[in-house]
Order: sequence, then C-alpha cells, then structure tokens
Amino acid sequence: MTELIFPDDFIWGAATAAYQIEGAYNEGGKGESIWDRYTHQPGNIKNNDTGDVACDHYHRYREDIEIMKEIGLESYRFSISWSRIFPEGKGKLNQKGLDFYKRLIHELLNAGISPAVTLYHWDLPQALQDKGGWENRDTAKYFNQYAETMFRELGDVIPSWITHNEPFVASFVAYLFGEHAPGYRNFQKALQVAHNILFSHGLAVKSFRESGLKGDIGITLDLTPAFPHSEQGPDQKAAELFDTFRNRWFLEPVFKGKYPEELCEIYQQKLGGFKTEQGDMDVISRAIDFLGINYYFRTVVKYDENEPLKFKETKPEGKNFTDMAWEVYPAGLYEILKRVKEDYTGDKPLYITENGAAYPDKISNDGKIHDQKRIDYLRKHFRYAHHAIGGGIPLKGYYVWSFLDNFEWSSGYSKRFGLVYIDYDNHQERLLKDSARWYSQIIENNGIEA
Ligand code: BGC
Repeated sequence: MTELIFPDDFIWGAATAAYQIEGAYNEGGKGESIWDRYTHQPGNIKNNDTGDVACDHYHRYREDIEIMKEIGLESYRFSISWSRIFPEGKGKLNQKGLDFYKRLIHELLNAGISPAVTLYHWDLPQALQDKGGWENRDTAKYFNQYAETMFRELGDVIPSWITHNEPFVASFVAYLFGEHAPGYRNFQKALQVAHNILFSHGLAVKSFRESGLKGDIGITLDLTPAFPHSEQGPDQKAAELFDTFRNRWFLEPVFKGKYPEELCEIYQQKLGGFKTEQGDMDVISRAIDFLGINYYFRTVVKYDENEPLKFKETKPEGKNFTDMAWEVYPAGLYEILKRVKEDYTGDKPLYITENGAAYPDKISNDGKIHDQKRIDYLRKHFRYAHHAIGGGIPLKGYYVWSFLDNFEWSSGYSKRFGLVYIDYDNHQERLLKDSARWYSQIIENNGIEA
C-alpha cells in the first residue's frame, strides 16, 4: 500500500555522465579529453578499462530513450562532452558533436522526458589541459565560451542547467588524491583548480542571465555529513575541519561569497594560499536558481596528526556498506538537506541530482537481475526525501545514479550503479534490473510505502 505521497510536481529522474556512457571517444569529430588521455595510460584504472566504448550510448541513445520511457522517467540528467563541441576546447565548433546532443534532446522531448543538462562532468578537453587545465585561469574563460554556445544552441528547449558536477572531485580527487584525471598529488594545485572551477561557474551563471533564457541554472555539489569517530575533543575538531574542507569550502563561496576563514588561514600558512582576483567572489556567488546535491554516504572522521589537515576518514564498525565500501546511511540525506536549507539556501529549490548504490549484480538463471539491495537502499533514501519535504524543505526532484551501469572512473567497469544492467560481454545488451521495475512503480504512484 502506498502511503508516502510526493508533491504532484515532484520530478523523478535518473542521471548519467558523458564519459561514463557515450563511448565513441574519437568519432564524430570529437577531440581528446583528459579522461581519454588518463585511461589510455596503463595503471591508472582498474583492469586498464577505458571509456572508449563504454555503453556505446553515442550510437544507442534511441534505444536508451525507449528504456527510459519504459521505466517512466520524467527527467533525464546527462552531461555534454565539451570536447565533442570544441575538440580543442575553444575556437572551432564541431557541428557533428552539437548535432548529436540536438538529436538526443529532440528524442527526449518527443518521449516526454525533460532534459537536465550538466555542462561539465570532469572531461576537460586535453588541448586545454596542455595549457595548464583548470590551474590556468583562462580555462574558466573558455568554459564560459562553451557554456554560452550551449545556451545559444540548446537553451530554448532546456529547462534546467547544471554548470559543474562535484567541483570537489574535479579539484581535490583529481589534483590532491591523484585518483582522477589528470592525476596529480599536489595540494596547492588542487586549491587553485577548485577556485578556478568555482569562478567558471559564476561566469556561466552570468552569461546565462544575460542570455535572457527562461530555464533554471544551478550547480551540483557532493555533500557528506561529517561525524566524529569519538566524543573526544580532537576527533570532534577533526570532524569540524573535515566538514569545512569537504562541504563548506564549496557551499560558502557559492552562497555567501567567501571562503571559510579558519581554513583559509591554514591554507595560507601551509601552502601560501591560492591566486584570486578582485571581484571573483561576487562572480562566484551570483544568485542561482537551485542547488543540486549528490548524496551517497556520511563520513566518520578521526584525528590523525600525520595527515596534512590532521584528520582521517574511518569506517564505522558493524554497518552496511555498498560495493564501493560506502556506508549505507540514509538519514544523511535528510541531514544534509536540512542543514543546507537552514545555513545556505532557504527557500531555494533543492534537487538530489545523484543518489544510488553499486552492488555486484549478476544475471540469474531466470535471465533477470535481482538487485534487492539496491531497492532497499533507494527505498530508505526516498523515505528520508519524503520526510524532508514534509518538514518544509523545498526538495523538487530526485535523480537516481545511475540510469545505466557504466564506466565508474578509477574502478572501471567493476562497479555497477545502474537501474539497467549492461552486459559488456554481449554487445552492451541492456537488461532492466528489478530496481528499474520497482522504480517504475514509485514513479507511477508518485509515492512509496511507509
Ligand atoms: C559522480 C558520478 C559517479 C558516482 C559514483 C558521483 O561522484 O558524479 O560520476 O559515477 O558519484 O561514484
């Protein structure tokens, strides 16, 4: 029996990203991206997997939209590959690349599925990386030119734009932890990259406003509630600083036009800070229409004097973890939404732009994929979303990560997040998992059992 009903205009969707699904890495005039370069260097990715073919969505998008229709998705969040549009990152536009997205959007609209477009999901054109990538402030300018082009070419039919997906990952995971392209381990660089990405976000918001388009524009941040490992002072402080490093470093510039002071001081002392110019913070904090939140897990934090910021993540004992070794912590979805509303966004619409789980799915003898754990994961998170709405939080939609199993970055194809199974050994055949059929019911009922 369905009992928890969502608002009539609540949007149920699913999300993907260009590099993770498209394949066709060198077709249709596409230029090389930093992920092409990075995956082609042996040793960077599990099993040396690459996104060269991925789910072959570039060729199979029509079939994929049929599947979206079958599930009943109301909205589809995808990203545009910058180097399909500008193979060199700037300059000459590649019409074939643009036409691909025009066809995709046309088909989505025909299917009654609302497109939500992410402009940057980490696949910088390699030509710009060769000139310093996001460390180079000019990249923000070129991002803005690319964004303006997309607004002009696609803007009349796109209701919802996301400038950046998870700037934390594009800066710190790629430049400090060395786990994503271009794979540096340099704190100083990571800080500069984070700032330039945020700056580029602000420039694009400004251009969007100047375009006079009717749609909405926002940014997607990956947020994680931080918990101290113990009641002890050092652990408590470590959790606070981790929260500043991980969440506030991005929330505060976007919504308050400043970086958290205490961490600025630490960065200044340890690293000599990073380069900004006058007026940057005004650009970064230009009003946006919504915030997208990607929520997957909470983080438990412990004091560790050997770490650069004296904190370290720990795994709590006796909890459930997904195949990514991420703790299943559904209450965190509510906690993050509540905190963001109270401290930053007020009445501004919020979206969960990603939430989901990887599990080692297998095709059963009956030819089906019985992914009960994913259903349980989503059900619990959906309930907290409903609870948030009941408590007055303006959550307007929910995108499950992911529509398809896909290239999971440094884990390659070893992790499966999809509602739809991809049989990589059998020509990328698509098979609806039980979770996809279950999700169909949720969408149809616009609600979930209590
Ligand atoms: C990213 C996705 C990724 C997912 C699971 C998010 O950080 O936006 O691209 O596949 O999490 O790791």
